[in-house]
Amino acid sequence: ALDDCRIIELPQVHDQRGNLTFVEGGRHVPFDIRRAYYLYDVPAGSHRGGHAHRELSQLIIAMSGSFDILLDDGCEKRKFHLARPHYGLLITPMVWREMDNFSGGSVCMVLASAHYDESDYFRDYQQFCAAASR
Ligand code: TYD
Repeated sequence: ALDDCRIIELPQVHDQRGNLTFVEGGRHVPFDIRRAYYLYDVPAGSHRGGHAHRELSQLIIAMSGSFDILLDDGCEKRKFHLARPHYGLLITPMVWREMDNFSGGSVCMVLASAHYDESDYFRDYQQFCAAASR
């Protein structure tokens, strides 16, 4: 699953009036987009994430500012830094994520393949590792 997680470069339309980026479900991301949510007003030193999902796929975009994301499939860890709004990090199911190092004023947008469902979460790392190694 960790090998399927990757930075996706999104289309950019450059113009004197500014830049435009778009994301189409099934095209730029390998899932239909059923939910968008965003983190903002993140205090300095905050840690977010700390969970994995059974079935959810997500694309994480730094709409403004920057932050770090650590991915972990229970065996291997990989670190990513997001800092530009035309790149997204694809996170596939069964990957634990931790987010930190948010810059001031940063906005983290997440496009997700399903509506919010707490039963899709692993919030306990040991339980996640046990399920991931099965
Ligand atoms: P959580 O996914 O733990 O946040 P993060 O991974 O960014 O640290 O969600 C935090 C809280 O917000 C939790 O109580 C569930 C709630 N929530 C929703 O109600 N709907 C949503 O779409 C999301 C993502 C979270």
